[in-house]
Amino acid sequence: MCGIVGYVGHRQAYPIIIKGLHRLEYRGYDSAGVALIGKDGQIGLYKCKGKVDDLERFMAGKDAESTIGIGHTRWATHGAPNDANAHPHFSQSGRLALIHNGIIENFRVLKDALISHGYTFRSSTDSEVLVNLIEYVQDTNECTLEEAVRIALRQVVGAYAIAVIKRGDPDRIIAARQSSPMAIGIGEGEYFISSDAASIIDYTQKFVYLKDGEVTTIEKGKPLQIKNLYGEPSKVDIQKLEMSISQLEKGGFPHFMLKEIHEQPDTLMDCIRGRVNPDTREIVLSGVLDNKEHFLQAGRIIFVACGTSWHASLIGEHLIENLCRIPVEVEYASEFRYRNPIIRKDDVVIAVSQSGETADTLAAIDIAKRAGAFVYGICNVVGSSIARATDSGTYIHVGPEIGVASTKAFTGQVTVMTMLALLIGKLRGTVDSAFYHEVAGALLDLPEAIRKVLKKAPEVEKLSRIFTYAHNFIYLGRGYNYPTALEGALKLKEISYIHAEGLPAAEMKHGPIALIDAEMPTVVIATLDHTYEKTVSNIEEIKARGGKIIAVISEGDTQLRHRADYTIEVPGTVECLMPIISIIPLQLMAYYIAVSKGRNVDQPRNLAKSVTVE
Ligand code: M6R
Repeated sequence: MCGIVGYVGHRQAYPIIIKGLHRLEYRGYDSAGVALIGKDGQIGLYKCKGKVDDLERFMAGKDAESTIGIGHTRWATHGAPNDANAHPHFSQSGRLALIHNGIIENFRVLKDALISHGYTFRSSTDSEVLVNLIEYVQDTNECTLEEAVRIALRQVVGAYAIAVIKRGDPDRIIAARQSSPMAIGIGEGEYFISSDAASIIDYTQKFVYLKDGEVTTIEKGKPLQIKNLYGEPSKVDIQKLEMSISQLEKGGFPHFMLKEIHEQPDTLMDCIRGRVNPDTREIVLSGVLDNKEHFLQAGRIIFVACGTSWHASLIGEHLIENLCRIPVEVEYASEFRYRNPIIRKDDVVIAVSQSGETADTLAAIDIAKRAGAFVYGICNVVGSSIARATDSGTYIHVGPEIGVASTKAFTGQVTVMTMLALLIGKLRGTVDSAFYHEVAGALLDLPEAIRKVLKKAPEVEKLSRIFTYAHNFIYLGRGYNYPTALEGALKLKEISYIHAEGLPAAEMKHGPIALIDAEMPTVVIATLDHTYEKTVSNIEEIKARGGKIIAVISEGDTQLRHRADYTIEVPGTVECLMPIISIIPLQLMAYYIAVSKGRNVDQPRNLAKSVTVE
């Protein structure tokens, strides 16, 4: 969480930084700030509580002329979201300014030591401790700023991506990373830094992604040099990022979330293209084919993920167990990492993450690798930390997801998992050839089916308005659609702040049915599958207790059209792909309920898109 951005070169830094901060706001938005070195060599530091728009208003009329600067948009970890805790932070003397994304776990010990050396603090943040530590190290060692950063960081436990500038030095930014992302954009005699390369794609496509424990001095007009914390040189690996700027704009939609929901027919095509041959309906995933032996010999597959990616993984479990007959476990990465899990050398661990930066998932990967398992990544963000930390993997290629509530990443993840399960099933000989080709063909038909569901957006909007009164919702599904129910509930709660609980439909009678009354709407995914009749019975049980039912049903299902209070009809496909279709009305419903309640859909309270802290 937190977004950091910086520039050094020949252009005006402030507009570049502000634009970058707007694009990084998905990473946190409770305060923002910039530090710029003016012509007189002094650092001008401006920051305030609120969003980047508030910072821009605060900056109006101020002298922002500078060709070097750093900026930050915050998601609070230590200290309340207020002006004082906003970044950048000055060191005690005002000589250094620093921005930080991450958490310094041993900040209390370091702070006490600095207090004993006469330091005082203006904020409650761990980041101010870091900038003072760097200043203290530089003063006591009489060394360069880069050396001071390296020495200071050797004393730090935790996660960080930092950038530091120094009064009187308008040509250099020192940047470093450990467990938090940091991309360096390379221009002509100029450099950009950012937590997310996409935020600075207007200026360059050439990027270097700092690795853990690396530090660099980026200096105007000088070649890039990267070192480790002990000053030994590291390889400078320049990568090209292909992305169009329009992917980062709202494209006429009022919110990124709505745009991303509507993009799904295209994003799924992008995900499938080149992987499912439309003529032969054969699947090619080089990440699997190049590592066949791991999947052929796999004793078990373990998914590690968080949030929406964890829900998609539950669908992956069904797919792989059904099609590949390999036992599967799905783990919350945050639990897996602290549980001393049993990992065998023939386990394949699949890490699933949209951002590719989720701290818990990264830690789970580390544990799996150390135990000797083969680790496969399913990520969206190209070049992200998880993509680089895994042994192999498949990108979902759904384009930048900016709305905090994940939508197109979920459908992309399930699509990749389906291709993965089909291919592994084929390699292992566990999937029937006719079924393999049927599902592969159904993948190709998904974009059209989703287009059909999206046409129902006005109907879902109307329905959603009826339910803005509710304080609680239950979401029910079975089989492949139980994770869809979990995901629908998560969408609703995170953007509308209405409590919602996802459950396997048959679990209702084991307790939750006690909650049912006329005030508690139940959303049921009741499409025609092998548990349909059972789900219909569950609906009857709820209706018998006065509950209101909103059902996602198959097109033409007259039985439920008459039994449920409200229905949304969706086209059918093979059962294992139904979650990709049935989630669409649930995404739309969450969106429209949140909008009716006046919520900030793209930036819901307390959340951030990329969870780079524990
Ligand atoms: O980037 P990741 O997929 O690793 O993120 C995992 C979760 O933080 C994320 O899915 C979160 O739950 C979303 N806000 C859900 O909409």
